[in-house]
Amino acid sequence: MTKHNITLIPGDGIGPEIISATVRIIEASGIDIEWETHILGAQALEKHGTTLPEATIESVRRNKVALKGPLTTPIGKGFTSVNVGLRKALDLYANVRPVKALPNVPCRYPELDLVIVRENTESLYAGLEHVVVPGVVESLKIITEKASTRIARYAFEFAASHGRKKVTAMHKANIMKLSDGLFLECFNRVAADFPGIAADDKIIDNACMQLVMRPEQFDVMVLENLYGDIVSDLCAGLIGGLGLAPGANIGEQGAVFEAVHGSAPDIAGQGIANPTAILMSGILMLRHIGEMEAAARVENAMMEVYAEGKVRTKDLGGAAKTDEFATAIVNKLKA
Ligand code: NAI
Ligand code: MG
Repeated sequence: MTKHNITLIPGDGIGPEIISATVRIIEASGIDIEWETHILGAQALEKHGTTLPEATIESVRRNKVALKGPLTTPIGKGFTSVNVGLRKALDLYANVRPVKALPNVPCRYPELDLVIVRENTESLYAGLEHVVVPGVVESLKIITEKASTRIARYAFEFAASHGRKKVTAMHKANIMKLSDGLFLECFNRVAADFPGIAADDKIIDNACMQLVMRPEQFDVMVLENLYGDIVSDLCAGLIGGLGLAPGANIGEQGAVFEAVHGSAPDIAGQGIANPTAILMSGILMLRHIGEMEAAARVENAMMEVYAEGKVRTKDLGGAAKTDEFATAIVNKLKA
Protein backbone atom coordinates (compact mmCIF):
# COMPACT_ATOMS: atom_id res chain seq x y z
CA MET A 1 0.00 0.00 0.00
CA THR A 2 1.36 3.42 -0.94
CA LYS A 3 1.90 5.75 1.95
CA HIS A 4 0.90 9.36 1.34
CA ASN A 5 2.32 12.38 3.13
CA ILE A 6 -0.32 15.09 3.24
CA THR A 7 -0.24 18.52 4.85
CA LEU A 8 -3.25 19.09 7.08
CA ILE A 9 -4.32 22.63 7.92
CA PRO A 10 -7.33 22.43 10.27
CA GLY A 11 -7.97 26.20 10.05
CA ASP A 12 -10.18 28.06 12.54
CA GLY A 13 -13.89 28.61 13.25
CA ILE A 14 -15.66 25.39 12.20
CA GLY A 15 -12.41 24.25 10.51
CA PRO A 16 -11.10 21.90 13.22
CA GLU A 17 -14.57 20.32 13.68
CA ILE A 18 -15.13 19.49 10.01
CA ILE A 19 -11.49 18.56 9.38
CA SER A 20 -11.40 16.03 12.22
CA ALA A 21 -14.66 14.48 10.97
CA THR A 22 -13.19 14.25 7.47
CA VAL A 23 -9.89 12.78 8.60
CA ARG A 24 -11.79 10.12 10.54
CA ILE A 25 -13.83 9.19 7.44
CA ILE A 26 -10.83 9.16 5.09
CA GLU A 27 -8.86 7.01 7.52
CA ALA A 28 -11.77 4.56 7.76
CA SER A 29 -11.29 3.89 4.04
CA GLY A 30 -8.10 2.09 5.05
CA ILE A 31 -5.56 4.06 3.03
CA ASP A 32 -2.23 4.94 4.57
CA ILE A 33 -1.79 8.67 5.19
CA GLU A 34 0.79 10.43 7.29
CA TRP A 35 -0.79 13.81 8.11
CA GLU A 36 1.57 16.71 8.74
CA THR A 37 -0.47 19.22 10.72
CA HIS A 38 0.29 22.93 10.30
CA ILE A 39 -1.28 26.20 11.32
CA LEU A 40 -1.98 29.41 9.43
CA GLY A 41 -3.78 32.69 10.05
CA ALA A 42 -4.58 34.12 13.48
CA GLN A 43 -3.26 31.01 15.30
CA ALA A 44 0.07 31.29 13.48
CA LEU A 45 0.28 35.02 14.11
CA GLU A 46 0.01 34.37 17.83
CA LYS A 47 2.48 31.48 17.86
CA HIS A 48 5.03 32.42 15.19
CA GLY A 49 4.47 36.15 14.64
CA THR A 50 3.34 35.63 11.04
CA THR A 51 0.04 34.55 9.51
CA LEU A 52 1.76 32.56 6.76
CA PRO A 53 4.68 30.63 8.35
CA GLU A 54 7.33 29.37 5.94
CA ALA A 55 7.11 25.90 7.57
CA THR A 56 3.49 25.52 6.38
CA ILE A 57 4.30 26.62 2.83
CA GLU A 58 7.36 24.38 2.78
CA SER A 59 5.28 21.41 3.94
CA VAL A 60 2.76 21.86 1.12
CA ARG A 61 5.58 22.36 -1.38
CA ARG A 62 7.27 19.15 -0.24
CA ASN A 63 4.11 17.00 0.00
CA LYS A 64 2.50 18.66 -3.03
CA VAL A 65 -0.91 18.14 -1.50
CA ALA A 66 -2.84 19.61 1.41
CA LEU A 67 -6.29 19.42 2.95
CA LYS A 68 -7.25 22.74 4.45
CA GLY A 69 -10.04 24.02 6.67
CA PRO A 70 -11.28 27.60 6.40
CA LEU A 71 -9.41 30.56 7.88
CA THR A 72 -10.98 33.73 9.22
CA THR A 73 -9.94 37.02 7.63
CA PRO A 74 -10.69 40.22 9.60
CA ILE A 75 -13.10 42.57 7.78
CA GLY A 76 -11.99 46.09 6.90
CA LYS A 77 -8.86 45.93 9.05
CA GLY A 78 -6.14 43.58 10.30
CA PHE A 79 -4.11 41.07 8.31
CA THR A 80 -4.66 40.34 4.63
CA SER A 81 -6.32 37.06 3.62
CA VAL A 82 -4.13 34.05 4.36
CA ASN A 83 -6.23 31.98 1.98
CA VAL A 84 -5.32 34.32 -0.85
CA GLY A 85 -1.73 34.49 0.47
CA LEU A 86 -1.29 30.71 0.40
CA ARG A 87 -2.71 30.41 -3.13
CA LYS A 88 -0.34 33.13 -4.33
CA ALA A 89 2.71 31.79 -2.44
CA LEU A 90 2.30 28.41 -4.15
CA ASP A 91 0.93 29.81 -7.42
CA LEU A 92 -2.20 27.63 -7.12
CA TYR A 93 -3.68 29.36 -10.12
CA ALA A 94 -6.77 27.23 -10.78
CA ASN A 95 -9.60 27.08 -8.27
CA VAL A 96 -11.83 24.22 -9.39
CA ARG A 97 -15.25 24.01 -7.78
CA PRO A 98 -17.70 21.32 -8.86
CA VAL A 99 -21.37 22.19 -8.32
CA LYS A 100 -23.41 19.01 -8.11
CA ALA A 101 -26.51 18.24 -6.12
CA LEU A 102 -26.52 15.26 -3.77
CA PRO A 103 -29.23 12.59 -3.78
CA ASN A 104 -32.27 13.32 -1.67
CA VAL A 105 -31.09 16.77 -0.56
CA PRO A 106 -33.77 19.41 -0.95
CA CYS A 107 -32.48 22.11 -3.28
CA ARG A 108 -33.51 24.25 -6.20
CA TYR A 109 -31.74 22.20 -8.89
CA PRO A 110 -31.41 18.50 -7.98
CA GLU A 111 -30.09 17.62 -11.46
CA LEU A 112 -27.43 20.31 -11.62
CA ASP A 113 -23.87 19.38 -12.57
CA LEU A 114 -21.56 22.35 -13.27
CA VAL A 115 -17.92 23.18 -12.70
CA ILE A 116 -16.50 26.58 -11.82
CA VAL A 117 -12.91 27.29 -12.82
CA ARG A 118 -11.80 30.45 -11.05
CA GLU A 119 -8.55 32.32 -11.70
CA ASN A 120 -6.87 32.32 -8.33
CA THR A 121 -3.88 34.65 -8.42
CA GLU A 122 -4.82 38.12 -9.66
CA SER A 123 -7.72 40.51 -10.42
CA LEU A 124 -8.67 42.72 -7.45
CA TYR A 125 -7.22 40.05 -5.13
CA ALA A 126 -3.74 41.28 -5.98
CA GLY A 127 -4.26 43.27 -2.75
CA LEU A 128 -2.93 46.49 -4.26
CA GLU A 129 -4.94 49.14 -2.42
CA HIS A 130 -3.90 52.53 -1.16
CA VAL A 131 -5.30 55.82 0.07
CA VAL A 132 -4.68 58.39 -2.65
CA VAL A 133 -5.79 61.32 -0.45
CA PRO A 134 -7.99 61.02 2.64
CA GLY A 135 -11.44 59.93 1.49
CA VAL A 136 -10.20 58.47 -1.80
CA VAL A 137 -8.98 54.89 -2.13
CA GLU A 138 -7.54 53.23 -5.19
CA SER A 139 -7.75 49.45 -5.62
CA LEU A 140 -5.92 47.98 -8.56
CA LYS A 141 -7.34 45.19 -10.67
CA ILE A 142 -4.54 43.27 -12.33
CA ILE A 143 -5.32 41.11 -15.35
CA THR A 144 -2.46 39.59 -17.30
CA GLU A 145 -2.34 37.77 -20.60
CA LYS A 146 -0.28 35.02 -18.98
CA ALA A 147 -2.72 34.24 -16.15
CA SER A 148 -5.82 34.65 -18.34
CA THR A 149 -4.45 32.31 -21.00
CA ARG A 150 -3.32 29.79 -18.39
CA ILE A 151 -6.74 29.64 -16.68
CA ALA A 152 -8.61 29.45 -20.01
CA ARG A 153 -6.36 26.58 -21.07
CA TYR A 154 -6.93 24.85 -17.74
CA ALA A 155 -10.71 25.17 -18.19
CA PHE A 156 -10.69 23.72 -21.71
CA GLU A 157 -8.28 20.93 -20.80
CA PHE A 158 -10.45 20.12 -17.79
CA ALA A 159 -13.52 20.05 -20.04
CA ALA A 160 -11.77 17.80 -22.55
CA SER A 161 -10.52 15.34 -19.93
CA HIS A 162 -13.83 15.20 -18.06
CA GLY A 163 -16.17 14.71 -21.01
CA ARG A 164 -17.65 18.19 -20.68
CA LYS A 165 -19.23 19.83 -23.70
CA LYS A 166 -18.98 23.59 -23.20
CA VAL A 167 -16.92 26.29 -21.52
CA THR A 168 -18.46 29.69 -20.77
CA ALA A 169 -16.39 32.76 -19.89
CA MET A 170 -18.11 35.25 -17.57
CA HIS A 171 -16.83 38.81 -17.60
CA LYS A 172 -17.63 42.51 -17.64
CA ALA A 173 -15.73 43.42 -20.79
CA ASN A 174 -18.42 45.92 -21.81
CA ILE A 175 -17.36 48.17 -18.93
CA MET A 176 -13.79 47.05 -18.17
CA LYS A 177 -12.83 46.96 -21.81
CA LEU A 178 -9.11 46.61 -21.22
CA SER A 179 -8.89 44.26 -18.23
CA ASP A 180 -11.90 41.99 -18.73
CA GLY A 181 -11.42 42.59 -22.45
CA LEU A 182 -7.99 40.97 -22.22
CA PHE A 183 -9.40 38.09 -20.17
CA LEU A 184 -12.04 37.47 -22.87
CA GLU A 185 -9.54 37.83 -25.71
CA CYS A 186 -7.29 35.18 -24.15
CA PHE A 187 -10.31 32.92 -23.62
CA ASN A 188 -11.33 33.21 -27.28
CA ARG A 189 -7.80 32.50 -28.46
CA VAL A 190 -7.55 29.35 -26.34
CA ALA A 191 -11.06 28.26 -27.37
CA ALA A 192 -9.90 28.09 -30.98
CA ASP A 193 -7.49 25.29 -29.98
CA PHE A 194 -10.39 23.16 -28.75
CA PRO A 195 -12.78 22.78 -31.69
CA GLY A 196 -14.51 19.81 -30.03
CA ILE A 197 -15.70 21.90 -27.09
CA ALA A 198 -18.30 24.63 -27.45
CA ALA A 199 -17.27 28.05 -26.17
CA ASP A 200 -19.32 31.12 -25.39
CA ASP A 201 -19.28 34.09 -23.05
CA LYS A 202 -21.74 36.03 -20.93
CA ILE A 203 -21.63 39.37 -19.17
CA ILE A 204 -21.41 38.60 -15.49
CA ASP A 205 -24.61 40.30 -14.27
CA ASN A 206 -26.77 38.54 -16.85
CA ALA A 207 -24.82 35.33 -16.15
CA CYS A 208 -25.90 35.52 -12.48
CA MET A 209 -29.55 35.88 -13.46
CA GLN A 210 -29.23 33.02 -15.97
CA LEU A 211 -27.61 30.86 -13.29
CA VAL A 212 -30.57 31.38 -10.99
CA MET A 213 -33.23 30.91 -13.70
CA ARG A 214 -31.74 28.30 -16.07
CA PRO A 215 -28.44 26.96 -14.73
CA GLU A 216 -28.64 23.80 -16.85
CA GLN A 217 -27.51 25.84 -19.88
CA PHE A 218 -23.99 25.99 -18.36
CA ASP A 219 -21.33 23.32 -18.08
CA VAL A 220 -17.79 24.53 -17.26
CA MET A 221 -17.53 28.22 -16.36
CA VAL A 222 -14.30 30.21 -16.29
CA LEU A 223 -14.06 33.49 -14.40
CA GLU A 224 -11.52 35.93 -13.03
CA ASN A 225 -10.90 35.84 -9.30
CA LEU A 226 -13.62 38.12 -7.84
CA TYR A 227 -16.44 36.95 -10.10
CA GLY A 228 -15.41 33.34 -9.47
CA ASP A 229 -15.58 33.92 -5.73
CA ILE A 230 -19.06 35.42 -5.85
CA VAL A 231 -20.50 33.00 -8.39
CA SER A 232 -19.18 30.06 -6.32
CA ASP A 233 -21.40 30.98 -3.38
CA LEU A 234 -24.31 31.66 -5.72
CA CYS A 235 -23.92 28.19 -7.23
CA ALA A 236 -23.63 26.59 -3.78
CA GLY A 237 -27.07 28.08 -3.12
CA LEU A 238 -28.48 26.31 -6.19
CA ILE A 239 -27.58 22.86 -4.86
CA GLY A 240 -28.47 23.19 -1.19
CA GLY A 241 -25.97 25.54 0.40
CA LEU A 242 -22.37 26.13 1.36
CA GLY A 243 -22.23 22.92 3.38
CA LEU A 244 -22.17 20.99 0.09
CA ALA A 245 -19.70 22.86 -2.14
CA PRO A 246 -16.15 21.46 -2.41
CA GLY A 247 -13.08 22.84 -4.16
CA ALA A 248 -9.46 22.42 -5.16
CA ASN A 249 -6.68 24.97 -5.64
CA ILE A 250 -4.33 23.58 -8.26
CA GLY A 251 -0.92 24.66 -9.56
CA GLU A 252 2.38 23.25 -10.78
CA GLN A 253 3.80 23.21 -7.24
CA GLY A 254 0.95 21.39 -5.58
CA ALA A 255 -2.74 21.27 -4.77
CA VAL A 256 -4.67 22.50 -1.74
CA PHE A 257 -8.14 21.07 -1.25
CA GLU A 258 -10.68 23.16 0.64
CA ALA A 259 -14.41 23.88 0.74
CA VAL A 260 -15.96 26.96 -0.87
CA HIS A 261 -17.30 28.14 2.49
CA GLY A 262 -15.52 30.10 5.21
CA SER A 263 -15.01 29.62 8.94
CA ALA A 264 -18.74 30.15 9.76
CA PRO A 265 -18.16 32.00 13.07
CA ASP A 266 -21.94 32.02 13.65
CA ILE A 267 -21.95 28.26 14.28
CA ALA A 268 -18.32 27.57 15.25
CA GLY A 269 -17.69 25.51 18.39
CA GLN A 270 -21.19 24.01 18.45
CA GLY A 271 -20.32 20.80 16.60
CA ILE A 272 -23.19 21.31 14.14
CA ALA A 273 -21.36 22.28 10.91
CA ASN A 274 -21.89 20.14 7.84
CA PRO A 275 -18.57 18.45 6.98
CA THR A 276 -19.77 17.41 3.49
CA ALA A 277 -18.09 20.23 1.54
CA ILE A 278 -14.69 19.53 3.08
CA LEU A 279 -15.22 15.77 2.85
CA MET A 280 -15.99 16.11 -0.85
CA SER A 281 -12.84 18.22 -1.18
CA GLY A 282 -11.07 15.29 0.48
CA ILE A 283 -12.58 12.93 -2.10
CA LEU A 284 -11.25 15.19 -4.88
CA MET A 285 -7.89 14.98 -3.10
CA LEU A 286 -7.98 11.17 -3.00
CA ARG A 287 -8.56 11.10 -6.76
CA HIS A 288 -5.75 13.63 -7.25
CA ILE A 289 -3.29 11.33 -5.45
CA GLY A 290 -4.46 8.32 -7.43
CA GLU A 291 -6.52 6.64 -4.69
CA MET A 292 -9.48 6.11 -7.02
CA GLU A 293 -10.87 3.08 -5.24
CA ALA A 294 -10.77 4.67 -1.77
CA ALA A 295 -12.33 7.84 -3.22
CA ALA A 296 -15.18 5.84 -4.71
CA ARG A 297 -15.78 3.98 -1.44
CA VAL A 298 -15.87 7.16 0.64
CA GLU A 299 -18.12 8.83 -1.91
CA ASN A 300 -20.50 5.88 -2.04
CA ALA A 301 -20.69 5.70 1.75
CA MET A 302 -21.52 9.43 1.89
CA MET A 303 -24.10 9.07 -0.92
CA GLU A 304 -25.73 6.17 0.92
CA VAL A 305 -26.12 8.23 4.07
CA TYR A 306 -27.68 11.03 2.02
CA ALA A 307 -29.91 8.66 0.06
CA GLU A 308 -31.26 7.18 3.31
CA GLY A 309 -31.91 10.70 4.55
CA LYS A 310 -31.96 9.71 8.22
CA VAL A 311 -28.75 11.38 9.41
CA ARG A 312 -28.46 15.00 8.36
CA THR A 313 -26.88 18.14 9.73
CA LYS A 314 -28.82 21.20 10.78
CA ASP A 315 -28.21 23.22 7.58
CA LEU A 316 -30.18 20.54 5.70
CA GLY A 317 -33.00 20.41 8.20
CA GLY A 318 -31.62 17.52 10.26
CA ALA A 319 -30.56 17.22 13.89
CA ALA A 320 -27.28 15.30 13.54
CA LYS A 321 -24.09 16.78 14.95
CA THR A 322 -20.98 16.93 12.78
CA ASP A 323 -19.55 13.85 14.49
CA GLU A 324 -22.77 11.85 14.28
CA PHE A 325 -22.93 12.50 10.55
CA ALA A 326 -19.29 11.42 10.21
CA THR A 327 -19.95 8.28 12.26
CA ALA A 328 -22.85 7.33 9.96
CA ILE A 329 -20.45 7.45 6.99
CA VAL A 330 -17.73 5.56 8.87
CA ASN A 331 -20.27 2.84 9.71
CA LYS A 332 -21.15 2.47 6.02
CA LEU A 333 -17.44 2.17 5.18
CA LYS A 334 -16.99 -0.56 7.77
CA ALA A 335 -20.18 -2.43 6.86
P1 NAI B 1 -19.07 31.46 5.60
O1 NAI B 1 -18.94 30.65 4.37
O2 NAI B 1 -18.13 31.16 6.71
O3 NAI B 1 -20.57 31.34 6.18
C1 NAI B 1 -21.70 31.78 5.47
C2 NAI B 1 -22.97 31.11 6.03
O4 NAI B 1 -22.99 29.73 5.67
C3 NAI B 1 -23.02 31.14 7.56
O5 NAI B 1 -24.34 31.30 7.97
C4 NAI B 1 -22.51 29.76 7.96
O6 NAI B 1 -22.99 29.30 9.18
C5 NAI B 1 -23.00 28.90 6.81
N1 NAI B 1 -22.06 27.77 6.58
C6 NAI B 1 -20.83 27.84 5.99
N2 NAI B 1 -20.26 26.64 5.98
C7 NAI B 1 -21.12 25.79 6.57
C8 NAI B 1 -21.08 24.39 6.87
N3 NAI B 1 -20.01 23.63 6.55
N4 NAI B 1 -22.14 23.84 7.51
C9 NAI B 1 -23.20 24.57 7.84
N5 NAI B 1 -23.31 25.90 7.57
C10 NAI B 1 -22.26 26.50 6.95
O7 NAI B 1 -18.94 32.99 5.14
P2 NAI B 1 -18.74 34.32 6.01
O8 NAI B 1 -19.55 34.26 7.25
O9 NAI B 1 -18.95 35.40 5.04
O10 NAI B 1 -17.19 34.33 6.38
C11 NAI B 1 -16.68 33.93 7.65
C12 NAI B 1 -15.17 34.00 7.62
O11 NAI B 1 -14.65 33.00 6.73
C13 NAI B 1 -14.60 35.34 7.12
O12 NAI B 1 -13.52 35.66 7.97
C14 NAI B 1 -14.11 35.03 5.74
O13 NAI B 1 -13.03 35.84 5.36
C15 NAI B 1 -13.67 33.59 5.87
N6 NAI B 1 -13.65 32.82 4.61
C16 NAI B 1 -12.63 31.92 4.45
C17 NAI B 1 -12.57 31.13 3.35
C18 NAI B 1 -11.46 30.14 3.24
O14 NAI B 1 -10.83 29.82 4.23
N7 NAI B 1 -11.18 29.63 2.07
C19 NAI B 1 -13.58 31.22 2.29
C20 NAI B 1 -14.66 32.15 2.58
C21 NAI B 1 -14.66 32.93 3.70
MG1 MG C 1 -15.61 32.89 -1.24
